[in-house]
Amino acid sequence: MFNITDEGATPELLTLFENNAKEIQSSLPALTTLSKEQAQTLIQRYVAAIEGNFVPWFCAVTIYARSPQAKYAAMENLDVEIRDDHQGMLRAFAIGAKAEPTHEHYQAVLPHVSKMRKIIAEGSGLKSITVSACLEYFSKEFVPYLAELAKKCDSTNFQYTDIHGEADAIHANQCLWAIEHEAKWGYMKPEVEIEKTINASRDFIKTIFQKSASDSSVQRAFMQGKK
Ligand SMILES: [Fe+2]
Repeated sequence: MFNITDEGATPELLTLFENNAKEIQSSLPALTTLSKEQAQTLIQRYVAAIEGNFVPWFCAVTIYARSPQAKYAAMENLDVEIRDDHQGMLRAFAIGAKAEPTHEHYQAVLPHVSKMRKIIAEGSGLKSITVSACLEYFSKEFVPYLAELAKKCDSTNFQYTDIHGEADAIHANQCLWAIEHEAKWGYMKPEVEIEKTINASRDFIKTIFQKSASDSSVQRAFMQGKK
């Protein structure tokens, strides 16, 4: 058990999140090894996986959460997300990097997106707030990385990556605090559910930024160029 308190996230939960964030950080392909095309592919995969899913996954918390704290954290986050049109901002970021996703990118990330959708579809407030917390907490690793990928693509539009710095840290803490509270609302094995959901969310992020995925696209572009 995470020694759940009313004061906020416990060191145990923070450590669990931090260890998984470090795992994501060490799995991100080194920027120096990526071509411009590979950087574009990774942005295309990120947009295909996140743009249409972030809001419904957070909405699931407002529907399924048992605790007022989890509902509050999700609504607070959704308010900013919708009011400031983060989806539009992400699309503008992709356009700036000439990295809008195509059908191929949606297809490529679909198996990973589907796994996450199945977790959300279970209707567990604890699992959905944990997924949301992961997207917020892990963003400290992948958002600066996205900005670097966009630089490689000669983009000048960094609004999406700029605003997902400080605000995400606040929202991440809020979500962790919400997990602690949600876990107290009658779940059978909350620690197990939290840990399994963190692992799945971590793997979801890792698969988006796989270098091998960007390699195949480069290979295809190369072959098409030869025709
Ligand atoms: Fe956002």
